[in-house]
Amino acid sequence: MTDTSTTRSKQLKLPPLQLGKHTVDVPVVLAPMAGVTNKAFRRLCREYGGGLYVTEMVTARSLVERREEALRIIEHDNDEAIRSIQIYGVDAVNVGKAVRMVVEEDRADHIDLNFGCPAPKVTRLGGGSALPWKTDLFQAIIKTAVEEASRNDVPLTIKMRKGIDDDHLTFMESAKMARDLGVSAIALHGRTMAQHYSGKADWNAIADLREAIPDVPVLGNGDIFSAEDAIAMVEQTGIDGIVVGRGCQGRPWLFGDLQNAFDGSEERFRPGVSEVAEMIYRHAELLVETFGDETKGLREIRKHVAWYFHGYPVGGSLRAKMATVPDLAAFREYLAELDHSIEYPGAAVEGPRGRAGSPKKPHLPHGWLDSRILGDAERLGLVDAELDISGG
Ligand SMILES: Cc1cc2nc3c(=O)[nH]c(=O)nc-3n(C[C@H](O)[C@H](O)[C@H](O)COP(=O)(O)O)c2cc1C
Repeated sequence: MTDTSTTRSKQLKLPPLQLGKHTVDVPVVLAPMAGVTNKAFRRLCREYGGGLYVTEMVTARSLVERREEALRIIEHDNDEAIRSIQIYGVDAVNVGKAVRMVVEEDRADHIDLNFGCPAPKVTRLGGGSALPWKTDLFQAIIKTAVEEASRNDVPLTIKMRKGIDDDHLTFMESAKMARDLGVSAIALHGRTMAQHYSGKADWNAIADLREAIPDVPVLGNGDIFSAEDAIAMVEQTGIDGIVVGRGCQGRPWLFGDLQNAFDGSEERFRPGVSEVAEMIYRHAELLVETFGDETKGLREIRKHVAWYFHGYPVGGSLRAKMATVPDLAAFREYLAELDHSIEYPGAAVEGPRGRAGSPKKPHLPHGWLDSRILGDAERLGLVDAELDISGG
């Protein structure tokens, strides 16, 4: 995906992104990632460059019930200029209540709605990326959310996939409906539910959407693993902003590369092992602070170990120890055992990372595709599509 052509520009040329009343100077969005984009990780990323940094997804129901974990997820640091959150919900009443609560209590400056989750346990009940197929439900949720958010002039955006599979694409009509209901931007992940995270994101679909709805900002998502990928996507699609997910896992400095590309600089972060060790240790410290608990913070850092050291020559036993690290003192010790003279390994660190896998047959409620309108039995089934969900 990295562009090696000499004819392409080296600068990311995009004007600031207007999200309702907010101006995002650097039109780069940290994609919401459940279990990843918490306060600690957002701070780390933010320190490298500008952009909009979205929380992990939170369910409407858990917000309405004021669950401790839900309130933790939507907390922001004082210096997060635009407090951005993402809500996932499957019925208009709960989503409306959740948005109202957030807006009335001034808990966020921007709200995104998640319509992209491909997890079978959610889609087989009609939630996640299955939901836009039911146009009445999709519109009802957005209508209520926009109305509630607009009470305090909070911009409401949506994020979605292309559709269920290549024979059941929804993004074009969904985007037009959302635009007509007053959303402030639309982010498209260029994959279908069936693709999950496999194959390549379809940037042509993103370009088509950009062209079809010139009156609302369109954000492109999928397979940006470097500043050069970002430049290529912008040039190929004409989009108004980019949304970066897996590319920054273990690489918060990617936002520095993107900032440099915006500034017209070709300088890129190329951390050696020593810098990576410092970064991951700081990440662990921030997680401890965020969760207010050393054990929990260190449990959280474990999954990041493989991402931070992806492509670096670090031995298996040391990796294994780090992936079960109990506390900060032990982490310091393990990190000291690394060979700090190792420089940036180049290509091994670049390119796709994180979730991949193979296409999956869509899991949907029985007969889901037969009608674009939600049936009564389907509505009942949806009740549980907000339980135990973690990400898109
Ligand atoms: C670990 C993980 C968690 C995710 N959680 C969410 C989520 O909470 N909400 C959401 O809309 N998308 C979620 N996604 C999808 C991403 O936001 C993004 O759309 C997807 O990874 C494609 O972008 P990328 O190619 O830049 O990774 C998640 C993805 C990953 C890998």
